[in-house]
Amino acid sequence: MRSWQNPTDNNILKAMFANQILEGIYFYSGFAYIYTLARSGKMLGSAQMIRFIQRDEVTHLILFQNMIKSTRRERPELFTKELIDEVYDMFREAVELESSWGKYITQGQILGLTDSIIEQYIQYLADKRLKAIGFANKGFWIKGLIIGGLETNSKFRNWGLEGKLSS
Ligand SMILES: [Fe+2]
Repeated sequence: MRSWQNPTDNNILKAMFANQILEGIYFYSGFAYIYTLARSGKMLGSAQMIRFIQRDEVTHLILFQNMIKSTRRERPELFTKELIDEVYDMFREAVELESSWGKYITQGQILGLTDSIIEQYIQYLADKRLKAIGFANKGFWIKGLIIGGLETNSKFRNWGLEGKLSS
């Protein structure tokens, strides 16, 4: 039985983490390509549309972050070692999938984006989402980013990849 057909407490909690991956990593990586094109004067209308979409998505992202934090306070017994390991696995897999997808769809053809920048940005997003839900800095796959964390964060901010919204 798929987990969505089986709404246990545990599966609902996992869906909240999956939401952070969807709205906080997959969406943002998609936004970044349009924002990067806009910086070269391309697809400006789409970039404006994405800004409005992002403004909306931020509210969902924060809502689910609060839901995860509230659940952790009210139902700490759900946060077992198995669950926490599974969350890290979900994020690890998401970073791999989204990095591969990002490289595939850009094909090195967007000025200002390289495969390495795409990968680092997605790792940075994953780290940021994990931190927001109290799972920060475990250093599983993002060693480089954690070592150079501050430098990397400000670099992305300077490039405008985070858009105008901070979440
Ligand atoms: Fe949303």
